[in-house]
Amino acid sequence: MSDPRVLVVFFSRTGTTRMLASTLARMLSADSEEICDLTERRGVLGYLRCLVDSWRKRPAEIVPAGLDTAQYDLVVVGTPVWAGSVSAPVRAYLRENRTRFRHVAFFCSFGGLGSQVAFDEMRGLADRAPVAQCKVRATEVQRGVVAASLVLFVSELKRHLAHYEALEWTC
Ligand SMILES: Cc1cc2nc3c(=O)[nH]c(=O)nc-3n(C[C@H](O)[C@H](O)[C@H](O)COP(=O)(O)O)c2cc1C
Repeated sequence: MSDPRVLVVFFSRTGTTRMLASTLARMLSADSEEICDLTERRGVLGYLRCLVDSWRKRPAEIVPAGLDTAQYDLVVVGTPVWAGSVSAPVRAYLRENRTRFRHVAFFCSFGGLGSQVAFDEMRGLADRAPVAQCKVRATEVQRGVVAASLVLFVSELKRHLAHYEALEWTC
């Protein structure tokens, strides 16, 4: 019998969610994949594009996922919060993969506002409830501390993974 497979998928414009994702992937011994966005989002113009995409709830054009989500027991999806919304590349990823997930969990990095709306959107886009979700402030990630909420999130995910493993034994 094999261990449950976990994939951490994320988008990051300025590196904060990437740092969070890499800590998570290490703590969960998970595979990891960064969503590749085809829109230029650097600089002021790029920032404005992020805002407009969020206001219009417009998914970004992204490179199709390299790793097959259907091969994983749990896919942990991470986004920065943009204008109180999920980021446009993660919006696209969830829409494109919604029929391929077994179980999902969500995390976000943010300045301090709008994470719950972003999580609610992610749940709708993935068409399923997450087994757990976790928000971490950008300032905490940038200080390099492992947030207490992240430790709790990982232990909750590990509890679910142990359950999937037990189910596999009984089948
Ligand atoms: C276009 C844009 C809009 C944002 N809107 C919000 C917001 O509504 N609420 C919030 O708490 N943070 C907001 N932020 C801050 C980011 O969520 C935060 O800095 C995040 O950690 C950036 O992640 P990244 O470095 O992985 O791109 C916004 C950032 C950008 C670029």
